[in-house]
Amino acid sequence: MTATQNGVNGSSELTLTLDGEVVPFTLGETIYEVARRHEKFIPTLCYDPRLEPFGACRLCVVEVRGQRNPVASCTMPAVLGMEVSTSSERLEQYRKTLLEMVASENPSIEVSPLRGYSSQELGVLVEQYGANTGRFAGAHSGHSRLDDTNPFILRDYDLCISCYRCVRVCAEQEGDYAISVMNRGFHTQITVEFNGLLKESACTFCGQCVQTCPTGALADKKALRNCEL
Ligand code: FES
Repeated sequence: MTATQNGVNGSSELTLTLDGEVVPFTLGETIYEVARRHEKFIPTLCYDPRLEPFGACRLCVVEVRGQRNPVASCTMPAVLGMEVSTSSERLEQYRKTLLEMVASENPSIEVSPLRGYSSQELGVLVEQYGANTGRFAGAHSGHSRLDDTNPFILRDYDLCISCYRCVRVCAEQEGDYAISVMNRGFHTQITVEFNGLLKESACTFCGQCVQTCPTGALADKKALRNCEL
């Protein structure tokens, strides 16, 4: 059945089963949006409600009956009659392992909350899951641009987890397309045009990238000036 067909028992309401409970949804909603509306906790890192679904971190996985592997709830559309589980031992283990992979790349999980509005997201999840931050220690992507002397934005990419929230907010919310991505895999690097400095790019220093960054890799220099820098 698809979401455009009539609902359960011939009613026109669209419903799915969420952790054993039949709940309504509207056409176009993702599983994550339905689950959040029903106060289910699903961890996320690359999700920002203002942005188009992206599906990079896979932390938001849920189980859908009939699907062999867990699916990313932030990108998967809700479908009529779907049976979804948001929590299980398998899911929690999966999420913890993903967190450990991300955290093992970062030299520090604890960063000052002054770095930005979302800067504590990774640290909070690592603590909540008891994730081992050294389990997958080794190569890591993203190198800081501390040579960028602009007075507003710290580019501490050693803390970057390649969630692309900064890239996406710059494009989708601001329409500036100042931030981009260079290379792939462990060579992934968030950058700007010609790998240059922010003040020589299309950046308007609006600060949206700082406020959406879930690790403090981008930070408000002004807020930090007397504390950390
Ligand atoms: S939050 Fe869904 S994949 Fe990152």
